[in-house]
Amino acid sequence: MSAPSDRDVLSTRTIPRSYYEKLFKETDSLRKELETKNILDSCRGSILATIFMEPSTRTRLSFHYAMVKIGGEVIDFGPVEAASIAKGETFEDTIRMIDGYAPDVIVIRNKVPGSAKLAADICAAPVINGGDGSNEHPTQAMLDLYTMQKLRGTIDGAKVGLMGDLAHSRTTSSLSYALDKFDNVSIFYIAPSELQVRPEVVDSLSHVHVEKAETYVNVIRDLDFLYVTRLQRERFTEPREYERLKGSYQLDRSSLSKYSKLPFIMHPLPRVDELNPDLDALSIAKYFEQARNGMYVRAALLKRTISGQS
Ligand code: NCD
Repeated sequence: MSAPSDRDVLSTRTIPRSYYEKLFKETDSLRKELETKNILDSCRGSILATIFMEPSTRTRLSFHYAMVKIGGEVIDFGPVEAASIAKGETFEDTIRMIDGYAPDVIVIRNKVPGSAKLAADICAAPVINGGDGSNEHPTQAMLDLYTMQKLRGTIDGAKVGLMGDLAHSRTTSSLSYALDKFDNVSIFYIAPSELQVRPEVVDSLSHVHVEKAETYVNVIRDLDFLYVTRLQRERFTEPREYERLKGSYQLDRSSLSKYSKLPFIMHPLPRVDELNPDLDALSIAKYFEQARNGMYVRAALLKRTISGQS
C-alpha cells in the first residue's frame, strides 16, 4: 500500500493560495499555446485513467479533452454496470487493479465521501478527486476560482453568494475551503433552512467572513458573484422531501429585472429548474464560460500533477 502523496488532489482544505497562482499561470499559458496548435506535446506518452462511478458530463469530458490536448492518452473505466463491480468486486480491488496497469494519473468519482482518499491510500499513481459524494469536488473549485479571477481581476475582497442545495452540494464545500485561502472574502450562504450549509464546512473556515440568508432578495445587491447549485436529488434519502423542496429557489430574468446592479451568475452545471434559460443571453451569465474554462484548468492541473509539481 502506498501513502497518499502530495501529488494527490483530494481536498481544497489543504491547497494553499500559492498553488492556485501557479496553476492559473500555467492555465493561461496552455490556453495561449492551444490557440495556435490543436494538440500540444506537454504530456506525450502519459496515460490518464478516469473512473467515474457516478454520472458526469463536464468533469469526465473536460478531463478527457484536456489530456488529449496536452498530448496524452486516456483510458476510461466505462459505465460501472459494465465492470466487475456489477459481479461483486470491491471498490478497493478495482482500484488496486487499475493502478497496477501503471497510469500516470487517476481521476476518480464515487458517491461515497472519502472514496478518493481511500483510492489514494491504495494507488501509486497520483489520484485526483473528481467528486466524492457530497464531500468535495476540488477541481470544480479550481475552475470556479479561475473564472472569478478572470472576471474580477482578483479574488481578494470578493463577495460571493452560494445559493441552493448547500447541504448536499460538494462544489460549494470545496469552493468555500478554497475561498478561505484569500483575503477579505465574504461568503453568503443562501438557502432555505433545510438546505443550509453543513456545520462541518463552516466550522473549518478560519479566514472568510460568513453570513447566511434564506433568499437572495436582501443580499444580491452586495454580491460580486451569485453561484447557484441544483437540488441534489440523488442525495435525498426521502423522495417526498425532494418533492417538497423542488422549486424552493429559482432565478429568472423577470425576478432580476428590478435590481440596478447584478452580480455575475455562476453555476457548476447541470442545472435543472433553478436557472431559467432566459438568463443565458445576459452578459452576467457566466456558467458556460465557467465550464469551458474547466478544460484549460484541468489541462494545467494534469500537466503539473504528471510532472510532479506541487
Ligand atoms: C457538479 C457535481 O458533480 O458535483 N457537477 C459538475 O461536476 N460540474 C454539480 C452537480 O452535479 O450539481
